[in-house]
Amino acid sequence: MNIDWSKEWKRYRESSHWTQKLKQKGITSEQFWDGYKMADKNEEYDRLAGYPGLILDRMSRFAGPDSSVLDIGAGAGAYTIPLAKSARKVTVVEPSRGQIARLMRRAEHEGLVNIKVINKRWQDVDISELERYSLVNAAYCFHMPEIEEALQKMMDVTTGALFLVALVNHGFTDVYEVVFGETEPEPEYIYLYNVLHQMGYPANVEVMTRNYQIPLEMQLGILRSSYDFTPELEKRLMEHLAASGRLVERENGAWVKRTYKDGMIWYQKV
Ligand SMILES: C[S@@+](CC[C@H](N)C(=O)[O-])C[C@H]1O[C@@H](n2cnc3c(N)ncnc32)[C@H](O)[C@@H]1O
Repeated sequence: MNIDWSKEWKRYRESSHWTQKLKQKGITSEQFWDGYKMADKNEEYDRLAGYPGLILDRMSRFAGPDSSVLDIGAGAGAYTIPLAKSARKVTVVEPSRGQIARLMRRAEHEGLVNIKVINKRWQDVDISELERYSLVNAAYCFHMPEIEEALQKMMDVTTGALFLVALVNHGFTDVYEVVFGETEPEPEYIYLYNVLHQMGYPANVEVMTRNYQIPLEMQLGILRSSYDFTPELEKRLMEHLAASGRLVERENGAWVKRTYKDGMIWYQKV
């Protein structure tokens, strides 16, 4: 069987919940991130969830004091901020102005002055605008229909290692099915790994598991930013969280147990 993984990627992206949600809301990905309602909780969520955690450790040997790093789809800086502390310079490609503002607020707070921002989507960046980087990172930002072109451009500017971080399992598949009536497609990392392989880059892949708890209110806020909640839906959600043993009573209220698996795909050039 000869599967064209780039073609499969297009079909997968088009049918993904994320693409469908943006269509339903009639907004672009940039508009979603510009107005992301949970943005002020993002840093706290990552801290509780231990993200990027071990992934960042794996990248660190390519981000020493002489290194130049590229962070694609940097968002509010989960990777950019720690990498800018160890690398000589970090270039960010990020299309959402809202995300850039959040990232630069964090950078200013940390006294970091070695971050350069390109306010574009990756597919719209001309290679002449880029340098060469010992580490290229793209994490959870693959709103890129022409994936082979996008990955080749990443490879072309990498002198050391390319890291792609994508979903393996968010551990909420049953919640989406039971509460919202949505069935999950296959995880994103399988497609990215296979596209790279078909392009002639047999990469390494490691699945990182994070077990953590977040406040129930935070979990509800995240779900509300994507779903229109009705009292009935909220009741069904609470019943399912309780029945599946995910609710934990702590001295400061109810928390939700989560298990999340990130796929870290990486290819070393030298
Ligand atoms: C879920 S956030 C991830 C942020 C960060 N990489 C992380 O892992 O925490 C996704 C980010 O990717 C950006 N993004 C989406 N499509 C993109 C594209 N085609 N090129 C570059 N960035 C993109 C979004 O604007 C958003 O800030």
